[in-house]
Amino acid sequence: MGYEILPQPGFPLSLEDEISKLLKLVDHEFIPPLSSRNSTMQQVFNESDRIDDMWFYHRQLRAQMNVFIVSEQKLAGLASFNFLLHIPDIGECAYLTTIIIHPSHRAKGLGRILYEEVAKILRDRGATRRLVTRTWSTNHSHLPLLEKMGFREIHRLKDHRAPGIDSIYFEWNV
Ligand SMILES: CC(C)(COP(=O)(O)OP(=O)(O)OC[C@H]1O[C@@H](n2cnc3c(N)ncnc32)[C@H](O)[C@@H]1OP(=O)(O)O)[C@@H](O)C(=O)NCCC(=O)NCCS
Repeated sequence: MGYEILPQPGFPLSLEDEISKLLKLVDHEFIPPLSSRNSTMQQVFNESDRIDDMWFYHRQLRAQMNVFIVSEQKLAGLASFNFLLHIPDIGECAYLTTIIIHPSHRAKGLGRILYEEVAKILRDRGATRRLVTRTWSTNHSHLPLLEKMGFREIHRLKDHRAPGIDSIYFEWNV
């Protein structure tokens, strides 16, 4: 099956519906769910601050640089990042907030392809080659992928997502 890669700021109109559907589909795979977050870069995850509206997350993704992977005109995955941010305790970096592969396209190397595409964009057009991302300590699909890409752990927030679930920041010099 062939795949097409679309890197661009924002969302293409043709994929708007599919992006909404994909976010809904995977919402509860994330800890905490995407629809409970007020931002793609939320720093504090308090139970009491939780919302229930994908609009906040969706709106911020649209404002970021995005890489889409499309198969037979259907969205197979996306990665979303900012070219240059300053993050407390982390410093200046390009920051990847989100990577999602549609469940029916997983374990075919597409997550790796998205990271490679982001790395290529940073090498060609980035202000920095320091790519940072974070995930939670029980994410057993993302953690092995990060290790395979060559990311290294740089910061850990204990019990940040829930008791026993840490946030872990990783960096990769692309
Ligand atoms: C994490 C995610 C993006 C991985 O995408 P993917 O396309 O399935 O990953 P790939 O096929 O490129 O996998 C690359 C490597 O990661 C590892 N990996 C991926 N999924 C894995 C899993 N479920 N269990 C163990 N290892 C896994 C494998 O070692 C694989 O290497 P290999 O092909 O040499 O065996 C995908 O599972 C996903 O969308 N998850 C839900 C959303 C999410 O958690 N995003 C990250 C939030 S921070």
